[in-house]
Amino acid sequence: MQDLTFIETQFPVSKLSKESYKERKSNVNQTLTGLGKWWGRKPLVLIRAAILGLLLPASGDPKKDREIFLRLMTMDEEGLWRRLRSNIPAAEVYEYATDTEKEFYFTRKNDKWQWNKSAGREDREHMQRRAFNRMGYDKKLTYCLRPEEIDGPSEAAWKVINAHLKTNVKSLSELVRELGVQHFGHVPHVGDAFCGGGSTPFEAAAMGCNVYGSDLSPVSALLTWAAIHLVGGGAETAKEIRKVQKQVYDAVGRQIEEWGIERNDEGWLDKTTGETIGKGWRADYYLYCIEAIDPVTGWRVPLSPSWIIGLKTRTIARLVPDNSTKTFKIEIIQNASPEEMEQAKLEGTATDGIRCPVDKEGNWISPHMRTASPIMELRGRAGLRLWENHDLVPRYDDTIQERLYCIRWVDPETGEKHYRAPTPADLEREAEVLRLLKERFHDWQAKGYIPCRKIESGYNTDQPIRERGWTYWHHLYNPRQLLTIGQYQKLIENLGDSPHQRAGLLLGIGRYVDWYSKLCRWDPSAGNERGSQTYFNQALNTLANFACRGHATLTTAWYLSYPEKSFSVNASIIPSDARRTNYVADLWITDPPYADAVNYEELTELFLAWYEKRLPVLFPEWYADSKRALAVKGTDENFRIAMVECYRRLAENMPDNGLQLVMFTHQDVDVWADLALILWSAGLRVTAAWTIATETDTSFRTGKYVQGTVLLILRKRKETLRGDRSDIYPDVQAEVQRQLKTMLEIDDKEDPNFGDSDYQLAAYAAALRVVTAYSAIEDIDVERELRRVRRAGESSPLTDMIKSAVRIASDFLVPDGLDSGVWKRLLPEERFYIKGVEVEAHGEYRDGVYQEFARGFGIRDYRGLLGSGAANLTRLKTPDELKGRDLSGEGFAGSLLRQILFAVYKTSEEDDPRPGLDYLKQEITHYWDRRQTIIALLNYLSQKPSPAMTHWRKDVDAAHLLLGAVEGDGV
Ligand SMILES: C[S@@+](CC[C@H](N)C(=O)[O-])C[C@H]1O[C@@H](n2cnc3c(N)ncnc32)[C@H](O)[C@@H]1O
Repeated sequence: MQDLTFIETQFPVSKLSKESYKERKSNVNQTLTGLGKWWGRKPLVLIRAAILGLLLPASGDPKKDREIFLRLMTMDEEGLWRRLRSNIPAAEVYEYATDTEKEFYFTRKNDKWQWNKSAGREDREHMQRRAFNRMGYDKKLTYCLRPEEIDGPSEAAWKVINAHLKTNVKSLSELVRELGVQHFGHVPHVGDAFCGGGSTPFEAAAMGCNVYGSDLSPVSALLTWAAIHLVGGGAETAKEIRKVQKQVYDAVGRQIEEWGIERNDEGWLDKTTGETIGKGWRADYYLYCIEAIDPVTGWRVPLSPSWIIGLKTRTIARLVPDNSTKTFKIEIIQNASPEEMEQAKLEGTATDGIRCPVDKEGNWISPHMRTASPIMELRGRAGLRLWENHDLVPRYDDTIQERLYCIRWVDPETGEKHYRAPTPADLEREAEVLRLLKERFHDWQAKGYIPCRKIESGYNTDQPIRERGWTYWHHLYNPRQLLTIGQYQKLIENLGDSPHQRAGLLLGIGRYVDWYSKLCRWDPSAGNERGSQTYFNQALNTLANFACRGHATLTTAWYLSYPEKSFSVNASIIPSDARRTNYVADLWITDPPYADAVNYEELTELFLAWYEKRLPVLFPEWYADSKRALAVKGTDENFRIAMVECYRRLAENMPDNGLQLVMFTHQDVDVWADLALILWSAGLRVTAAWTIATETDTSFRTGKYVQGTVLLILRKRKETLRGDRSDIYPDVQAEVQRQLKTMLEIDDKEDPNFGDSDYQLAAYAAALRVVTAYSAIEDIDVERELRRVRRAGESSPLTDMIKSAVRIASDFLVPDGLDSGVWKRLLPEERFYIKGVEVEAHGEYRDGVYQEFARGFGIRDYRGLLGSGAANLTRLKTPDELKGRDLSGEGFAGSLLRQILFAVYKTSEEDDPRPGLDYLKQEITHYWDRRQTIIALLNYLSQKPSPAMTHWRKDVDAAHLLLGAVEGDGV
């Protein structure tokens, strides 16, 4: 038996979930997001915890190990206090003070609690610390920086850490090195062969490891390289990049001024003299919409889901029909009245299709009376005309036209912003932009300044082709955008003294690719009147109206912004198919595209179209295409085979004492079983599993019921152990029980680390641990299973084995407040109900939890038992809601618990326990034999629901009354 590491024995999942959530919620302030778009970057705090967890030995004293781990993560009391971001306001401190403290230190002023005069600086600090200590973990975090934002544990903490680990270090990187030497004989090598946005290689490098990062996508490789070398390059590198970025930005700005394409003719005056001192407001935003002829009325309709332009500035667009041409003029109105604002919202012409505001004769129709012609109709059977390479704007007879309808100008003198409809002079300038672009177009394409690649058909890439007829990547940009970005590309071609500067410039282009296209939505919401990014989700959504920035508004998109860190680096980053990995890592930390909804290989082609000629200059040994065919994706047999090939390769490239951590987000039993097959076949065995809630609610992976990231810990399987399923079941049983027992033992009663779903997961993992330790199970042919084409709904033989683990777990995990003998006698449906009451009492309303229980207890249909099935509001029906329905038959309907619930209902209805008691005595066969069980269940129902479950109040009282009656009966 190998020595176990910390993460193989325990992991602080609850606190880490909170830390991960906090990091995710910091949005643009996350360390790596400023470099460029990636979908689903893993939180750095999680990677840090993973690396430490994989390196720290388990000492045999789990409590102490846990304490040391938390200290290292600055997630202990003292570490959290070190992370304090700002003073805690007096009013907040007051909330946590004792009555005496309140009286002594606080006074009420202007309706708010404030420090009083007797509270000196020291007192205030002392009181803040006290209040902080009394807060729960979530609350504390609201006042804390993220662990990566401070300089690790304090000197005092290092003393405790060193004493326990028998080390002599003062920083995380020193510790990581020393642990690496102890365990592997050298500084640890950490690899990620699916590195995506670069979280793993970045954090590993920041912690002092030697790192390897690769990904099929060169876009990912660039982001990862930049994470390590630019963010990790410290202040000096940041300054260098900023300088060269500014040089280019200013030069393009001057060129745009020279072309005269982003200023109008408004003059501006000197405030004191009243003289005209300058000319031309500067364009801030250009708003475009598409326009199409409505097949029903024959009118050409500008399309937008709403005609509100700005909620805060109360700006709207108003359509004015012109009967002679059957078209609309568009007026722009600022400071609109509330009625006009409401009207503009209702007047949207692109909601569920084209809604033409007038009838054939040009009579205005009230918005409620308008019918929608499906947009599909516009495309016709043959679809839209496909654009050719040289099409830069729609042709005059194209079905879908693009129209500039509003410009936001900035008065350079006052800084005031003005929304205006375009004038003939503005349209002249639009024409000039097109002329300038046409002049350069072919030359620039040849030089790679603007894209020349065709859009290859695919799940996401078909959308712009189908919905707009765009066939080349440059069709996603309007002439102004192509001219501007092209000019940047031209200037940066020979610029940059170092790879860092050149990479910084290329990433700036990448940010334009995302923030400066025809797929950038205009956001009119208050305070936010601005354009958003192309990839606000994982699709290429075409828009009815879009925002195009003026050059002056591009600064936030152009300049890279990230915190400056400084660490010395030993890193190897390349684009590569994971199957071709030949780097040897001691620790592989991977997050494969496992049943993932993101088509990285398609979405990144947009960036590659712009990087095509630049990337090979910057990294001569890299390729610059997406290698779509090699992407690992889906869930079918091809996917399973590809995954085995990847993981076999990684296992081969790992020493015998190496470890792997695989992250994935699915909790479905079949998915687990598949993953087991894959990893098993790749020569790995599972040693532990944990779930961390890493996704925020609106995150892209919230589909179905996925809430957490599962971390599987794996080692190489070295022994040859053979068995068959009947041998293995008892082992699974023993392992599940052992696992749950240890978790229960180390859990903190006050601040529980594990929830129900953690125990469920631990059961799956325990089963996998047993199964994957075998090199062969006689009656399961792994290779055949992997390659087998499955029919819909068909599962693998491993599924049953894993399901059995959950059944064992559910037997073992008796709800608090119920005797285990009673629990064992209950039917699966009764257990489901009892568990449901328990989780609701814990404030748990997630749909996924009920699904997991249903799976665990082997129940197919439980919807009838739910009072609400809405995601995050799921709960059971109360006795009062169940009433007298379904009182006999199979399953729950015929169960003892169902009859008890009915008796509770009767009791509450009549406010008297006698009818309920009579019912129980008449209907329950062997009433007297089952009386103790009835008492136990009634006791549970009268105690368990929490005060927050107000819908249970009546039933809890009734259960209590009835309990008294049953207990008193016959005594
Ligand atoms: C879930 S993402 C990884 C995200 C990453 N952990 C992060 O924090 O940003 C999965 C990655 O697998 C990559 N991928 C897909 N097929 C691959 C293959 N055959 N070889 C290597 N990488 C591949 C995708 O490009 C994607 O970046």
